[in-house]
This record gives sequence, C-alpha cells and structure tokens, in this order.
Amino acid sequence: MMNVLVTGGAGFIGSHTCVELLECGYQIVVMDNFVNSTAAAVDAIKKITGKEFPFYECDMLDLENFEKIFQENKIDAVIHFAGLKAVGESVTKPWLYYHNNLVSTLNLIALMEKYGVKKLIFSSSATVYGAKNPIPYREDMETGGTTNPYGSTKFMIEQILKDECVPHPDWSVILLRYFNPIGAHPSGLIGEDPNGIPNNLMPYITRVAAGKLPCLSVYGDDYPTHDGTGVRDYIHVCDLASGHVKALEKTETMQGADVYNLGTGCGSSVLDVVHAFEEASGVKVTYKIAPRRAGDLAEYYADATKAKKELGWEAKYNLLDMCRDSWNFTKKRMEQEAAGK
Ligand code: WQD
Repeated sequence: MMNVLVTGGAGFIGSHTCVELLECGYQIVVMDNFVNSTAAAVDAIKKITGKEFPFYECDMLDLENFEKIFQENKIDAVIHFAGLKAVGESVTKPWLYYHNNLVSTLNLIALMEKYGVKKLIFSSSATVYGAKNPIPYREDMETGGTTNPYGSTKFMIEQILKDECVPHPDWSVILLRYFNPIGAHPSGLIGEDPNGIPNNLMPYITRVAAGKLPCLSVYGDDYPTHDGTGVRDYIHVCDLASGHVKALEKTETMQGADVYNLGTGCGSSVLDVVHAFEEASGVKVTYKIAPRRAGDLAEYYADATKAKKELGWEAKYNLLDMCRDSWNFTKKRMEQEAAGK
C-alpha cells in the first residue's frame, strides 16, 4: 500500500483526509506548520483511527527541514493541502499569499523530482472558474479571471503543475476543485474552528447558534436566485476526504495532469443553509439581511458527473447531515472549553 505524504494534514480538509486514508489502509506521513491548526487535530486523527503515523511540525518554505521528511521516509505520493486560504486577508497581504502558496508548492515539486515521487493530488478551488462561466461549472470550462490573490494562487499552481507534467510524462497529477466544504467528522473530534471572527458561512452560523456572536448577516437578498440569497454547492468534508482517496487510486492508472470537481451538484442558498441548520440542531439562528459582500457571485455549483464517471466517486451526505455534524463538532468544542481544555 502506498505511503502518502499529507501536507497541511492538521487542517480542516487535511485532517479528515488523513482519517479516510488510514481507514482505507494507506500509510501516511503528515506535516503541518500549525499556522492555522493545532496539534490537537493530529492527536484526534490517531484517536479516531487507532493508528500511528510520523508527524513533522515543519514549514514547507524551510526547504532544509522539509527535505528531511523525504530523507527519512519513502514517499510514494503527496496530497498537498498546505496553504493560506483567507480570501479577504489575501487582498490586504498579496505578497504573503503569493510567496507562501507558490514557493511551498515549488519546493514540493523540487523534492518530488529529487526523490522520484511521481504522484500528486492538489487542493484547488471552484474559485478558478472566475466570474464568466455559466453554471453548473464543468472541468473543461476556461479558468482564470480570479478576483483575489488567494484564488489567483490556486489558478497559478494549477498551471505550474500542468506544465511540470510536460517534462515529466510519467507523473500523475490530479487537481481537485473543491466547492464549499462544511460539516465535520461524525465523532466531533475534528472539524473547522477558525481563529477570530469567521469569514465563511457555516463557522459563522455555528458561532451564532452557540451564543458567541449575536447575529448572522445575510449578504444580500436581491440576487437572481430562488430566494434572493447567494447559492453555493456545500459539500460534507468527509465526502471531500473520500474523493481524495478515489483520486489517489486513479493516479495508479493515469499519467499527466487531470482535474475533477468535488461538489454535490446541488445549489443551496444562504437561507436554505440557515433553515437546514435550525432543523438539524433545534437551535434558532438569528439573522438580518445586510448589503451584498464585495466579490460574491450570485450562484454557482458543480457539474459533478466527471468525478462520478472516472473516479467512481459521488457525495453521500446531504445538507442536513452537514449541519448536524458541524453542530455536533461545535458542541463538543464548547464542552471542552467549559472543562478548561
Ligand atoms: C457562502 C455564502 C456569502 C458569510 C469562499 C471562497 C472560496 C473557498 C471557500 C476556501 C455566500 C454568504 C457568508 C456570512 C453570508 N475558499 N455569507 N454571511 O464565498 O462561497 O467561498 O470560501 O478556502 O474560494 O471564496 O464561501 O462561506 O464565505 O459564503 O451571507 O457571514 O454565504 O455571501 O453567498 P464563498 P462563504
């Protein structure tokens, strides 16, 4: 069975994918610099699976330390999650985003070359479809026209990885374009817990439900959508995790670069999410209608047929499941905080 290096393995999507990899029998080596995650997630992965693995607290920009991982382990494939991901922050700190996300990936490519690692899965984003494509988004649509440095790093890294497959025809690279990941592992031991006031919808909703923030602002109710609020393709993070394992299997039988959407194919509005959350949790979410947020699109969701056909993968969880598991994680976190942990 393959030994898989997971960069950013303590993060939201990384930690869930580590659990899925271990449960499918893969060996893993995990690295993270804890810039937006904690060692508690690493312990939780071990607790959920009952399995051990090497962990390195390491920054991918520190090439010398990063190389030690390749010296000390025989790596067969890499799943590259590590990166900065806050859209708003990327607008105020573009150098930080370009430097961090691009140089870390370039360092990874150099080490893959040096150590003969030929399989790579990369965390891309639906944001690479830009603003001009019709919905649903299909993998063969033109990408680019990204509207913030975060999104531009995803677009640029996709291009870099496609270019690397030209002089390396025996590499297998899969770019996964995520839609809106929410939910948490049903154990409630790992999930999404951003620092500070959340930017994304579900972490904001859970904080309002938990009584830590007074009111959700719904950014716009005059979009041309079924109820006027913005529509997205929310996907359970455990579905996303299983998509990575399917992509890894695919690297065994393909060469070059290929790209897959990981979405459900269903659009839900902000108010659909609020109502599903209330139903799943039994807790009321106070909200008010606020002006549109700059840079938001009215509506987008995935065409999920390519991943179904070629990877044998499709999302299993619905919006209620996602809300239930996000809330379960939040409640567990609050219990831990109350117990002073
Ligand atoms: C979802 C919907 C908001 C907060 C972003 C990035 C994307 C990806 C995921 C990740 C929108 C509305 C939100 C709030 C609201 N990147 N909303 N009140 O913008 O679709 O995607 O995160 O690493 O690249 O752009 O996600 O969760 O911020 O917003 O009404 O307080 O919820 O307007 O319609 P988004 P989101």
